[in-house]
Amino acid sequence: MKLAVFGSPIAHSRSPEIHQAFAAQFGRTIEYQRILASPEQLSERFAEFVASGGVGANVTVPLKEHALSFCAKLSPRAEQAQAVNTLIHRNNEWLGHNTDGDGLVADLLRLGVKLRGARVLVLGAGGAVRGIIGPMLDAEVAHLHIANRTEVKAQKLLVEWQQRLAGELEITPKVFYTLLTAGDLNSAAGSSGNGQWDIIINATSTGLTQERPDIPDASLANKPFCYDMVYGNQPTPFMLWAENHGCAVADGLGMLIEQAALSYFQWAGDIPDTKVVLDSVRSQL
Ligand code: ATR
Repeated sequence: MKLAVFGSPIAHSRSPEIHQAFAAQFGRTIEYQRILASPEQLSERFAEFVASGGVGANVTVPLKEHALSFCAKLSPRAEQAQAVNTLIHRNNEWLGHNTDGDGLVADLLRLGVKLRGARVLVLGAGGAVRGIIGPMLDAEVAHLHIANRTEVKAQKLLVEWQQRLAGELEITPKVFYTLLTAGDLNSAAGSSGNGQWDIIINATSTGLTQERPDIPDASLANKPFCYDMVYGNQPTPFMLWAENHGCAVADGLGMLIEQAALSYFQWAGDIPDTKVVLDSVRSQL
């Protein structure tokens, strides 16, 4: 089976080793390449890949939204996220799917974090957030608040999801009611000014630049579980800040492995054991 991950930059991608480890669990031989592609180059790179026998692809930054236009069909997850991270080439066409949000939910469950009924604060309003809202709502969280530095982007996402919850957009979530709110970074303190969050997800890119979203300390009043979607060999500034305030924390490496496992299932039909692969990739960071 010939697979590849497309993106720019791409040299740092851990997807090849993760998918090789999954395939090895089932005694399957796969080829999994890294392919450097800008949005302008994607059409040509996809065509070459298919011509050489490629059957499955992951796309990463900055291609997740751009790759939508190559897909003849989208799964509900890709439709809701308006972004794809997993493509399957079948009957001469690309099928687009998005496993990011379900990967996050799977990792939170692995970490013992209860989503059902939880009050969740999501920081950011970019591509990383688009993919996680649908799965969070389907996990029946009680309240989802989106706080972003540029408030208007958070408000725009809010309106889009309110329309989905109201059944006005094509792919509605499983639930029809969840308290859904949005605001600027100060709104992370909550309407009481004393943030009553059970979980905070940092879906901004701040971990990549050694910064943290500038949210008030009061956001941590309820000692929420604090998850950063960025990962590395050191805790991010957001994780260190939350830890210093007595909160349990995790980075996004588990999400990376879980979203990969859900992609692998789409191509191979096997469900990999993620724990052993997570331990192995963690030890190599
Ligand atoms: P991604 O696909 O990773 O979400 P993106 O679409 O560029 O990338 O979005 C980056 C997110 O991180 C945005 O929500 C951005 O906030 P703005 O919309 O205000 O730009 C957020 N972000 C980046 N740097 C930040 C910082 N220093 N403080 C707070 N938020 C930051």
